[in-house]
Amino acid sequence: MKASYIVAVAAALNLSLATNVTIIRPNDPFLPDNKLPPSHATSDGASIVQLFPNLGRSTTWKLISKTHFEGDTGEPEGMVRVGDDRFFVSAGQYTVATQKYTHPINGTDRSPGAGFAHMLIYDGQGRLIANATLTPPGDIEYHSGGIDYDGRYIWDAIAQYRPNTTATIVRIDPLTLQKEALFRTHDHNGGIVHDTITDDIVTLNWGGRNATTWSMKDYPQGFAPLPAFTEAKSSVPDPTFFVDYQDCKFLGHHALPSAMSARFGGLNPTRAIMFCGGVATIESSSSSFNLGGIALIDLQTMLPLWEVPISLTSDLGTSMTQNPIDIAVVDGKLRIYCLPDQHNSTLYVYEAA
Ligand SMILES: *[C@@H]1O[C@H](CO)[C@@H](O)[C@H](O)[C@H]1NC(C)=O
Ligand SMILES: *[C@@H]1O[C@H](CO)[C@@H](O)[C@H](O)[C@H]1NC(C)=O
Ligand SMILES: *[C@@H]1O[C@H](CO)[C@@H](O)[C@H](O)[C@H]1NC(C)=O
Ligand SMILES: *[C@@H]1O[C@H](CO)[C@@H](O)[C@H](O)[C@H]1NC(C)=O
Ligand SMILES: *[C@@H]1O[C@H](CO)[C@@H](O)[C@H](O)[C@H]1NC(C)=O
Ligand SMILES: *[C@@H]1O[C@H](CO)[C@@H](O)[C@H](O)[C@H]1NC(C)=O
Repeated sequence: MKASYIVAVAAALNLSLATNVTIIRPNDPFLPDNKLPPSHATSDGASIVQLFPNLGRSTTWKLISKTHFEGDTGEPEGMVRVGDDRFFVSAGQYTVATQKYTHPINGTDRSPGAGFAHMLIYDGQGRLIANATLTPPGDIEYHSGGIDYDGRYIWDAIAQYRPNTTATIVRIDPLTLQKEALFRTHDHNGGIVHDTITDDIVTLNWGGRNATTWSMKDYPQGFAPLPAFTEAKSSVPDPTFFVDYQDCKFLGHHALPSAMSARFGGLNPTRAIMFCGGVATIESSSSSFNLGGIALIDLQTMLPLWEVPISLTSDLGTSMTQNPIDIAVVDGKLRIYCLPDQHNSTLYVYEAA
């Protein structure tokens, strides 16, 4: 690691010392035994990729559990299941609503609004263990997005709550909930994953329309010192309009199972793969509904490798994949973990029968 990089990180750390953590259950550690469980890439990532082509429109999703998450969760945006008994949820608390402009101003379409980004820790029974405020009062970047856990850190993009604006890429230590701001992007970024094999960071912008790649290796002089912006290594548009991805997880680099590789003329190089969930709002002149879906995606090209619609809704009528989602293989079967509702949230766990 270059000295200039360390200086940039140290400067960011000073900013991050303001993270205020409220510990609700002092007898429950953030992580059991203070141990960092493995990421998907080093545990069930390969099995997720192998099992995914079994999924389709006719998959029966069997409800395994429904767990109420205590407290006002605001708007949950992303979630990582860290080990069997901890869920970290990035959540927005909005104190002033954004307002649509009549015409674009400064390249965006609405006023900044105001609020706070939080990181919440829950156990498997839905008990709140800690509630961190990640942004200071008055910060124009107060919107967290989808998050990813890489075996050491939780990655988050804290952005203005409006398209075509700015974001700061941070990583949060799950053992302390302290955040480290690494670099700033000249766009609204939401979903983020860390490819731990290439050390690339991939972020999705408003509506998941563009995937932008940042390399932790390709900035030998360090990221541009905050609050300046760092230029991306590359950016690709999402070539599909199925759903707008909200929350994604890096699964590792894998050759594709034959049902998937058949689509690529039999060529089957190892690919960087992520899992994502999201919704598309389908509007007609008379009505609108949210189509839910999950997918495996090639991280470099954004090509969908396998896409599956999800028609499940919460008891409150929200599309199951509207907000946070994670995935796991438990006893050889695929499970999804969804936290769709705002404010009064319930974790729904489904297994692909
Ligand atoms: C976390 O704290 C904020 C206030 O800082 C509060 O508005 C929010 O409801 C809390 N979240 C939960 C789940 O209790
Ligand atoms: C547009 O940007 C300019 C320059 O940064 C700023 O002074 C102005 O307040 C912005 N306008 C709005 C409505 O945000
Ligand atoms: C954001 O920028 C893109 C590309 O410059 C443009 O097509 C889009 O209309 C902008 N969105 C808004 C809401 O201003
Ligand atoms: C943490 O609390 C202190 C004191 O109330 C406040 O000055 C600071 O802005 C807060 N920081 C965050 C990130 O909420
Ligand atoms: C998305 O990326 C393309 C280049 O791949 C770029 O032309 C376009 O402006 C980007 N859109 C936004 C909103 O950043
Ligand atoms: C919270 O949501 C559950 C359904 O998930 C519902 O039964 C309950 O009445 C809701 N509680 C409040 C206070 O709205």
